[in-house]
Amino acid sequence: MELNKKVAIVTGVSKGIGEALCKALLAEGCMVYGLGINAPPIQDQNLQFIPTDIRSFAAVESAIQTIVKQKQHVHILINNAGLGYFANVEDLPLEQWDQMFQTNINGMFYTCKLTVPVMKQQGIGHIVNISSTAGLEGMPMVSGYCATKWAVKGFSESLWRELRDHKIKVTCVYPGSVKTDFFRNSPGIQAHDYMLMPSDVAELILHALKAPDNCHQVNLEIRPLQPKGPKTKQ
Ligand SMILES: NC(=O)c1ccc[n+]([C@@H]2O[C@H](COP(=O)([O-])OP(=O)(O)OC[C@H]3O[C@@H](n4cnc5c(N)ncnc54)[C@H](OP(=O)(O)O)[C@@H]3O)[C@@H](O)[C@H]2O)c1
Repeated sequence: MELNKKVAIVTGVSKGIGEALCKALLAEGCMVYGLGINAPPIQDQNLQFIPTDIRSFAAVESAIQTIVKQKQHVHILINNAGLGYFANVEDLPLEQWDQMFQTNINGMFYTCKLTVPVMKQQGIGHIVNISSTAGLEGMPMVSGYCATKWAVKGFSESLWRELRDHKIKVTCVYPGSVKTDFFRNSPGIQAHDYMLMPSDVAELILHALKAPDNCHQVNLEIRPLQPKGPKTKQ
């Protein structure tokens, strides 16, 4: 899709991958609507932040109604907002389990449910859902987060088959570790320079968005080449 002047929605834009996606889309000439709790530190006339807790269907509905009223179109939807808590299963608090599912899964369902009719009507659209390599492999102490990201995979794999005849693409993205604030809830893991950078992830998502109309990138797995740094010589 040619990105210039296209309308894009990105969720979770205050920092990290969401902030990088906003910058990358703005550089391509998109009109970007950021949905999230805190605003991104970006000043740009083509960026509009709509305060939205994506766990609330009513809040997401109101935000998308505002966008459709202003622009009549939504070409790109990127479901990026998400968070993880990590603990052995017996220690994982119910509130943290619920918060992960409400944010990582319910929020994505709400935005898709409300945006797909607009995309179907305009006959073009691209939805990008951010899963994780935790959506491909289980890990000890990561059961809840992995469960949400496997659900993102299942949802996305169903959706692209459901929507392809409406000329709507769905791409599921599986990043390995990215240097963001995501690890604030992770005991023992700190972000470091051998991780992917948020701009790396944004750049590869742009590449998928820019693919010719007939070409659909279904999955995008992105890993840091040497996540533990270069091996020292023996
Ligand atoms: N970092 C990694 O290693 C990694 C790897 C694979 C996948 N991912 C995924 O990538 C996505 C982005 O993560 P990140 O690394 O950029 O983490 P991050 O820096 O912590 O950013 C997460 C974003 O999600 C927003 N958010 C959280 N709860 C929200 C809610 N209820 N409503 C609206 N926005 C909400 C946050 O907003 P506020 O700051 O305003 O709360 C923040 O902007 C997540 O889905 C994450 O699971 C990350």
